[in-house]
Amino acid sequence: MKTKKTAAVVALCWTAGLALALARPGTAAAAEGRPDVARTPPMGWNGWNCFQKGNADEVKIRQVADALVATGMRDAGYSYVIVDDNWMRDERDASGNLVVDTSPGKFPAGMKGLSDYVHGKGLRFGMYLCYGPKTCLGLPGSEGREQQDVDLLASLGVDFLKVDLCPFPKGSLNDKEKLFAECIRRTGRPILYYVDGLGTGNESPSAPLGDRYEYLWAAPYAHLIRVAWDSVASFDGPADWGGTGVLQTMDVMAPLVDFSGPGHWLDADMLQVGNGMTADEDRTEFAFWSIVGSSLIAGNDVRSMSPTTREILLSSEVIAVNQDTTAMAHRVLTDGYHEIWSKPLEEAGSRAVLLVNRKTAAARMTVPWGVVGLRGNATVRDLYAKADRGTFRDGYAVDVPGHGCAMLKVVARP
Ligand code: GLA
Repeated sequence: MKTKKTAAVVALCWTAGLALALARPGTAAAAEGRPDVARTPPMGWNGWNCFQKGNADEVKIRQVADALVATGMRDAGYSYVIVDDNWMRDERDASGNLVVDTSPGKFPAGMKGLSDYVHGKGLRFGMYLCYGPKTCLGLPGSEGREQQDVDLLASLGVDFLKVDLCPFPKGSLNDKEKLFAECIRRTGRPILYYVDGLGTGNESPSAPLGDRYEYLWAAPYAHLIRVAWDSVASFDGPADWGGTGVLQTMDVMAPLVDFSGPGHWLDADMLQVGNGMTADEDRTEFAFWSIVGSSLIAGNDVRSMSPTTREILLSSEVIAVNQDTTAMAHRVLTDGYHEIWSKPLEEAGSRAVLLVNRKTAAARMTVPWGVVGLRGNATVRDLYAKADRGTFRDGYAVDVPGHGCAMLKVVARP
C-alpha cells in the first residue's frame, strides 16, 4: 500500500490565464547536462496496468515487443517498452548489487537478453527503481546505492528509467531526485528520467502551486514527472492514493500545464485505454492525454487488443496533437460538466480543440471561436474520424456522447 503522494485534486475553475500567471521553474539553465531525449512527449508501453500489477515476465514482454511492431504501434511512435516493479529478487547480492529475478516464469534469460531483444525490434528499453529503502512492492529500493543501481541498469541497456516513491527516503526528496539525475549523467548514457515521486510539498492552499506540488521542482532535471496517483480504468473517480479516474486526472492537470514543455513533460500516468472503460471513455482519456502533452504509455495487453482499442491507440491525427510542441493546452471553458480545451498548433491559425462531456447523457456542445482565440470563418476537422466537417462562422456545434469527446482541429480561414 502506498504512503506517498500529496492530495492533488484541484477544484474546477476557469483556467485560461491562471496557469500562465504562475511562476515557472527555471528550466532552461538548470537543464544543462540533461540528455536531450524528450523534445516531444515520450510514447511507449508498460505492463503495470494490465499484467496484474507486476506479473510481467520475459515471455510476455517479448511478445509485447513483437505486437508493438506487428500492430504498427512502434511505427506510430510507441518506442519504449518498460519493465515496472517486480523484476528483482528480494535480496541484493554479496556486493550489494540488485539481482534480476531469473526464476522460471520471470526473467530466466536475464534482463540483458530481454533488453537486446527489445532493441533488436527497433524499440527502446525501460526499467524501474525506487528512491527509498523499498520499491512499492517491497523489493529493495535504491537508497544509498543510487549510482550502483543506475550503473547496473545502464549496463543492461536501459533507455528509460522510472524512479518511484513509496517509503520515503531519508532527507530531502528533491535532493534524491536530483541525485538520480546526476547518477544518470555520470553513466554517459542518454537515459530518459521519469520521476514518479509526488512527495509532500507545502499543502497550504494559499501557497504558490510551485511550492504546493513538490513534483514540479523536478522540472529542471527530469524528463517526465507524474502529477497524479496511479491511473485506474475508471472515467469518474476515485481520486486518492488508491487511484485516479480520468476526470480527476484532468482536474489535477488543469492548473499545472504550463510547468510542462519540451524536455520536461508532466505525466498523467500510463493509459488505461483497452482495460475496461467504454470506447467513448477510452477516446476521451486518449484525447486528453494527447492534448495536454502527457506521455502516451499504453497500459493494455497489446497482444490481444480489440480493433477499437487498436484504432484509438493508433489515431495518428490525435497523436500528432500530442507531439506538436508549439504550445500547451488550457481548459478555456467549463460549466462544470461540459468543458473545452484548446491548444495552438504549429500550423498558423490552427488549434486542437477538445470538447469533453463529463456527464453520462449525450449533449450538444458548442465551441464559440472566441474562446479558442479565433473569429470569423474557420474549418473544422474531426481528428478521430479523420474527416473534414466544413467551414463554420463564429463557432461549431457538435453532439458529444456521454463521457465522450470531440477532438477537432480548427483552422482560421480569414
Ligand atoms: C506505484 C507507481 C505505479 C507502479 C507501482 C509499482 O504505485 O505509481 O506506476 O510503478 O508503484 O509498484
